[in-house]
Amino acid sequence: MATTLSDRMNHFSGSPTSALIAKVAELKRQGKDIISLNVGEPDFGTPDYIKVAGMKAIADNFTKYTPGNGILELRQEIVKKLKNDNGVEYALNEITTGVGAKQVISSAMMVIAGPGDEVLIPIPCWVSYTEMVKLAGATPVFVPVRSDNYELDMDAIEKAITPKTKGIIICTPNNPTGAVYSEESLRRLAELAVEHDFFIVADEIYEKLIYDGAKHFSVASISQEVKDRTITVNGFSKAYAMTGWRVGYAAARADVIKGIMAVQSQTTSATSAISQKAAVTALQGSQHDLEVMVAEFKKRKDYVVERLNSIEGITCPDVKGAFYVYPDVQPYLGKSFGDRKIETAVDLCQYLLDEALISTVPGEAYNVPGKIRISYSNSMANLKEALDRFEKALAALK
Ligand SMILES: Cc1ncc(COP(=O)(O)O)c(C=O)c1O
Repeated sequence: MATTLSDRMNHFSGSPTSALIAKVAELKRQGKDIISLNVGEPDFGTPDYIKVAGMKAIADNFTKYTPGNGILELRQEIVKKLKNDNGVEYALNEITTGVGAKQVISSAMMVIAGPGDEVLIPIPCWVSYTEMVKLAGATPVFVPVRSDNYELDMDAIEKAITPKTKGIIICTPNNPTGAVYSEESLRRLAELAVEHDFFIVADEIYEKLIYDGAKHFSVASISQEVKDRTITVNGFSKAYAMTGWRVGYAAARADVIKGIMAVQSQTTSATSAISQKAAVTALQGSQHDLEVMVAEFKKRKDYVVERLNSIEGITCPDVKGAFYVYPDVQPYLGKSFGDRKIETAVDLCQYLLDEALISTVPGEAYNVPGKIRISYSNSMANLKEALDRFEKALAALK
């Protein structure tokens, strides 16, 4: 018998969305005309001015290790950004960059929570939070959001708080629902965090992808006592279409940042020097490409929400952020296609992939079944075709 793996691997699972991306790539390679509605990154290229900065960094031999928290220039730009956009003032030693927001959140979890601690996670939630909490040795505690508009359910959160609560991870604008949490909910959450003394990890990676006049509110901007308990996480992947460059950052109390740096120094060292230079330029440059992208996403969102709600039995809240919608598909569960029985959203997504050649993500991946996540990070022409296929495939279920 082969040597066994650690016990940890009995309780830890890889990202289902990453697995789906690999599966869809393989089907496309086999020549299947799949339309991807499972995409978690902008379908836009990284803006040219940012790419040029990356190429310049290579030409200048800016290709070595950097300080673990990132180059000074980048941290200075992040400090300015947080002040101007979010109304929060941080010192340079209260910022660290890392290998994407993903790694920063995971490191932060190691720093703030461990065995015996509970971390609240409003669900549906991004696929990685649960495993990150578990990897840190702590216990994830799921709290459903409101089902009508996917806003935080503050009463449910209050009820879920125990003496073991060490933190909560929130994501606004939200993946997978697209909801933008209201300032009112965030203020109430902040009061609870101060009263019960727990951390708020505020994942603001979709901050700039916001529509219809909705406003992003950074919880750390409320007061010093809230800021002291908040770890604001952001990055370059979504706003600047830089998913492959791997730059994210956290802003928090100096001791929290020192802890994150310690974890990183023993695991990743720092993110790519080249990417850091590109990220400086992303923040310094004109934000025109971002505006163009947001205008396009807004058009697609309106189209997708309207189309989905026009399909019999489908309800889809008109959310205001990110590039996802999270429609309820429950009226189609329990139906069949020939011998094929569709019991769950997992079955439905597999059916849609096999029969309609569209890839979507089942709500089970985000801890809330009965729904699916549809990403509108795809061309309008593809979205139209995909929704035609979706509607036809649903109509074929009896
Ligand atoms: C909610 C959320 N947070 C963090 C990330 C990770 O971003 P990064 O590419 O900066 O690691 C993602 C990426 O899909 C995300 O959806």
